[in-house]
Amino acid sequence: MAILIDGTLFSLTTKDSLYQMQVDEYGVLNHLWYGPKTGMDMSYLNQYPEISFSGNLADTGVKRDYSLNDRPLEYAEGGMTDYRTPAVRILHPDGSSALDLRYAGYELLQSKPEIDHLPASFDRSQQTPALKITLKDALYPIFVHLFYSPFEQENVIARSVCIENRSDHLLTLDKVSSLCLDLPDGNLDVIHFHGRHAMERLVERLPVGFGTFRFESRRGNSSHQHNPAVILAQPHTTETHGACYGACLLYSGCYQVEVQKDQLEQIRLIMGLEESTFRWKLNPGQVFNAPEALLSYSNKGLEMLSHQFHDMFREHVIRSSFVHRPRPILINNWEATYFDFNGKKLLEIADAAQECGIDLFVLDDGWFGNRNSDTESLGDWQVNEEKLGMPLANLSKAIHEKQMQFGLWIEPEMVSEESQLFKDHPEWVLWIPGRYPSRSRHQLVLDLGNPEVVGYLYQTFAKIIADNQIDYIKWDMNRSISDFYSSYLPKQRQGELAHRYMLGVYELADRLTSDFPNVLFEGCAGGGGRFDGGMLYYFPQYWCSDNTDAHCRTQIQYGTSFFYPISAVGSHVSAVPNHQTGRMSSLETRATVAMAGTFGYELDLTVLGPEECEQIQKQVKVYKDLQPLIFDGDYYRLTDPFQDGLAAWSFVAKDGSQVLVQSVIYEQKPNTRYSRIQLRGLDSNGLYRKDGTDACYTGAALMEGGMLLNLPHGTDSSQTIRLSKVGPHPSENIQG
Ligand code: GLA
Repeated sequence: MAILIDGTLFSLTTKDSLYQMQVDEYGVLNHLWYGPKTGMDMSYLNQYPEISFSGNLADTGVKRDYSLNDRPLEYAEGGMTDYRTPAVRILHPDGSSALDLRYAGYELLQSKPEIDHLPASFDRSQQTPALKITLKDALYPIFVHLFYSPFEQENVIARSVCIENRSDHLLTLDKVSSLCLDLPDGNLDVIHFHGRHAMERLVERLPVGFGTFRFESRRGNSSHQHNPAVILAQPHTTETHGACYGACLLYSGCYQVEVQKDQLEQIRLIMGLEESTFRWKLNPGQVFNAPEALLSYSNKGLEMLSHQFHDMFREHVIRSSFVHRPRPILINNWEATYFDFNGKKLLEIADAAQECGIDLFVLDDGWFGNRNSDTESLGDWQVNEEKLGMPLANLSKAIHEKQMQFGLWIEPEMVSEESQLFKDHPEWVLWIPGRYPSRSRHQLVLDLGNPEVVGYLYQTFAKIIADNQIDYIKWDMNRSISDFYSSYLPKQRQGELAHRYMLGVYELADRLTSDFPNVLFEGCAGGGGRFDGGMLYYFPQYWCSDNTDAHCRTQIQYGTSFFYPISAVGSHVSAVPNHQTGRMSSLETRATVAMAGTFGYELDLTVLGPEECEQIQKQVKVYKDLQPLIFDGDYYRLTDPFQDGLAAWSFVAKDGSQVLVQSVIYEQKPNTRYSRIQLRGLDSNGLYRKDGTDACYTGAALMEGGMLLNLPHGTDSSQTIRLSKVGPHPSENIQG
């Protein structure tokens, strides 16, 4: 049983991990252990001597060796002698904000419940239970319900928190976290994923120092600047060895992560809603649900941690039926034409795409209103038939007649000042009274905290999808939010807007994806500005970055892979010189990199020569063949592209039968040895044949000795190698 309750001891087990908590003699819920299975009650470690200036709770009497400030707490409150960062802060009507949370009971649920209006992990077989532990404030009837669901095979624990106000007064929630994890080990590194537009999810690894390391988003989306995911790893932890903890939020709005090292060299990890953009009024009788967080532990390095998250996302987070279905290879007209197109040009690109075997034509920005630049028309979702030269339904029909699918770009959450929608409904825009709203990419933000706006957007886009035989939607979001003020909300509830906005986005995504289950949705926020577990719940794929440069993409995709599965990574081949960096790289290299994702093209196919078209035809065939391995296999980061000058990664099928190794060398130097790359995840005793040759190697040779990469000359040259497992034992066929 994955959840064991022995008196006051709660143990959650997964395949390789144990998580323990215990209620002590004062009713405080202590965190005891998270790590490998130990087969016993770990409370013997939970003893503390008297520590000066660590005050004691009133009911500990004269006892001076019990302080909340020292102990590992399961959900840390503030104001009662724990001076570390709290997980929750509630303002009472008397003006105080202390909470004194004590154990009030538990419930074991046979299957994991959903969370109202929020994305949450699920188990379709209903085999994953949930433990609900309830804490209550010692003074007021304020309840904190902690939910835990251990996903055994994936070694993941899903956690969520619900605050319930059973008092008869209005509460103000000032801080609510999804996860609090107190770890006794202070000698850990923090690994986090920072970046900027067109350079998302770069990797930084730092030792956790005394004090608090914090990152967050206040931008209304999870942001390009910092992904809502973090790893704590022992200093010696590598891809393949050592212990590490990973945590990520299934949330796409303002969030914060705090990693605090205290005076006793213990570490507290807190993840939840960002404090400065959150203030929630909770009426008597109401509950507030915090977003879900996923937590995972690996004692076999970062690679195993990533595999656990990838499996978790593929099996229990991405709810779209496309998750394991073959996905279409697409051609998107954005970098081919930007706003400068007409129906004829689009059909020419579609013709060229059809010849290459491409499955899906995506019409990007510029098909509606007077949208010929990014200065106007967002919100006016009427088809510009003059520009297209035909109704949208006719264009879609013409594409379908080429045996291709038709996809469309939309940006539901935004509005241009130059639009009819803005003229009709200025009150639907986020706008602080008396101030002029700030623009970004010339656009303003619609108030998705207002259900009327969400309803209007649903009607608008449901009709477009239904009327035009749409097979794919690219849902974009092209600015960070500011000017948080909603004319729909009363002034005392303005602090709820950032979260209410996200609930509105989720509501719209939920309705559209539920009502159109056969439409493939791809998320986008100026590339990867909202690439997170919350959006992946609704959209099985996400445009990873507006940067399509192959060299940069190896780094962006490397950082993305720590938490998110490759099947979610939108990646395309674009033109050279690259539009973001000016770099030249071969068509082969661009395809090698884009194949480590959902694959497609984003360039003007009509201007390519016959040789390039032939190459693309081959690439399309190769990718179709490889997609199951790329989507469902285990992914290995074979190098660190930030350090090694070489990006190499591989996919190994779950049944071990197929291996794909892809690599890009950034710079060739004369008179050097071949690069040698040690593979991972193979069967040591297995025999592998290099496809297209007779050469066979044992798994042990490929993993210990490695494989030589004969990378062609030129900067950013690439190589793809496929191996098939041909037998369990070495034979005389062995090369060398
Ligand atoms: C964003 C997206 C691009 C493209 C443009 C269109 O920048 O990330 O892929 O769709 O918007 O305006």
